Parts: sequence; structure tokens; C-alpha cells
Amino acid sequence: MHFEETMKSRTALCEEVLRAYLPQADVCAQTLVEAAEYSLMAGGKRLRPLLMETTGRMYGGREELRRPFMAALEMIHTYSLVHDDLPCMDNDEYRRGRKTTHIVYGEGMAVLTGDALLNAAVETALTAFDEVRDSRENAAVIASLRLLMKNAGLQGMIGGQCADLEAEDRPGDVTARTLYYIHRHKTACMIESAFQIGAILAGAPEEDVEALGRIAECTGVAFQIRDDILDVTGDSRELGKTVGSDERDGKTTYVTMHGLDKARRDTEALSEEAMDLLGGLDGVKDREEQAFLMTLVDSLVQRTH
Ligand code: IPE
Ligand code: IPE
Ligand code: MG
Ligand code: MG
Ligand code: MG
Repeated sequence: MHFEETMKSRTALCEEVLRAYLPQADVCAQTLVEAAEYSLMAGGKRLRPLLMETTGRMYGGREELRRPFMAALEMIHTYSLVHDDLPCMDNDEYRRGRKTTHIVYGEGMAVLTGDALLNAAVETALTAFDEVRDSRENAAVIASLRLLMKNAGLQGMIGGQCADLEAEDRPGDVTARTLYYIHRHKTACMIESAFQIGAILAGAPEEDVEALGRIAECTGVAFQIRDDILDVTGDSRELGKTVGSDERDGKTTYVTMHGLDKARRDTEALSEEAMDLLGGLDGVKDREEQAFLMTLVDSLVQRTH
């Protein structure tokens, strides 16, 4: 199948999975249910569930086991965006082509929406146990839960966001090493969950799961460098979010530290490393999925949204 067609149908699948696990209505928390749907169903790229789905297929994994994790990962990602946009963080008013959650529902509700999405993510991921057929799958679900929460937490995305905020207060102290730490943690860790959970649930060989860790690191850091580039060169309407907010917030980004040219070159080098490693995976069962994944990783370097 053509790359664009597969992207379209697979993104639609991610939308369908998310909708199936949307937080349910509750008489007392109607506003939050609405705000959760507002932020979740706003049409992000669905990159993380897409990567998980494709990696899972590459190893012949079962869709039913994967679906709860795809939805959970996108819920965590969405909560991180809702909080990232708050006035006390990046203070942005536009996301996924609409007003940010706190602009529409107020700051308190946006904080709670993020909290609720994180909780819903755990509840959703836990439903994978209902799909388990044998002890191998049971162990894979447990390992995936641990990975999901670790990569979203202090040692992962939240840790990166913490370093990102601290760096904003002391731009003079930000070294290339600190900036790499920020990119690696705030962004690449969630990409790591996508690749590795897809593989673990499918029963991929351990060496492949490990290699996918490095593939995710390269892909995730390249993705964030591209995000930094687009904050300078991108089009707000195409991106669906505010541009220029990094400069306004006094952020140290890959562009302010290394310049646009090096940022572009490094994105390409990281993506090439990811592609080389992807091409060398031993346990792959579906070569077509592998080729699709390589094209997908490659396309992230040139993305304009
Ligand atoms: C935005 O992520 C935050 C970063 C890690 C750069 P995405 O660019 O994947 O945002 P959505 O999900 O498509 O809205
Ligand atoms: C945020 O990075 C990464 C998250 C964990 C949310 P950015 O602050 O650069 O993401 P955008 O540009 O607002 O999407
Ligand atoms: Mg931020
Ligand atoms: Mg931001
Ligand atoms: Mg950004």
C-alpha cells in the first residue's frame, strides 16, 4: 500500500481506538468529561499510537492486547500537552488547531483535565489484562505497564519537563548536555514507550526491544529538534499551535544553541541512525511493516506540522 494511504487509514484506526476508550460521562464531573474529549479528540498527529501499532504489527502482535496501550499512551501525551500549555508553564493559547484547554475551561479545570487523563490512561492500560490469553502475554502486559509509567514519570517525560522549566530560569547555565537530557526525557521517552511496548506485547526478541530503545531515542530527539525548528520557521495554522513561543518564553532550544543549519543536519543524522538500526532488526516478521516504519521515521525529519 502507498505510504500516504497507510498513514491515513492507520491514523483513522488510532482515532477509533481512542474514541473507544474515551472517559465516560459522570453526573458530577460533566465538565471534565467534556474537557477531556475536547483536548483528546482535537486531531493530533497520533504519532505515538501509530508507532506502537506499526511496531506491534511488525512483530505479528495481537491488536486486542495493544489497543488499551495505544489509547493510554495518547491520553498521557495529551495530558502532558494540556499542562505544558498552562500559563505557569509555556503559556500557550492555541493547540491542535483550537484554543487550549485552559482558555476554554479555565486553569483549574485544565489542571484537573490533565490529572483525569493520566488516571484514565492507567485505568485504560489495565484493561489489557482482560485480553490476556497466556502467561507470556500476562508478563508482557506487566512489563508494558511498568515501562509506560516509568517513561511518563520522573525518570521520563515529567523529569524532562522539570529540566525544561528550570532551564527557562537559567538560560546561561544550559549546556548541550542539559539540552540533550531535556529532549531525551520530555519527548523521546514517550516515543520509547510507543516502540518498545508495541514490540514487547508482540513477543519480540529481547535484542530487538533493546535496539528499539536506541531507535526511539534517535527518533524522539530528532522529533523534538524538528519541533524546535518549526517553532521558528513553521506556520501556526499548519502546525495548529502557536509559533515563536520558545523565544517569547526565553527557552534554550536546539536552534538557539546550535543554529538552524546544525539543527537540520543533526535531525537528519539521528533519523539516519534510527533507519539503519530499524533495517537491521533480526526478529521482524512483517517486512512491509518494517519498510512502512522506516518511511514514517524518515518523514518526521521533513515534517511541517
Ligand atoms: C507535541 O507533540 C509535543 C512534542 C513532544 C514536540 P506532537 O507534535 O506529537 O503533538 P500532536 O499530538 O500532534 O498534537
Ligand atoms: C513539550 O515540548 C513536550 C511535552 C512533554 C509536552 P514543547 O513545549 O516544545 O512542545 P510544544 O511545542 O508546546 O508542542
Ligand atoms: Mg514545553
Ligand atoms: Mg510547549
Ligand atoms: Mg515546542
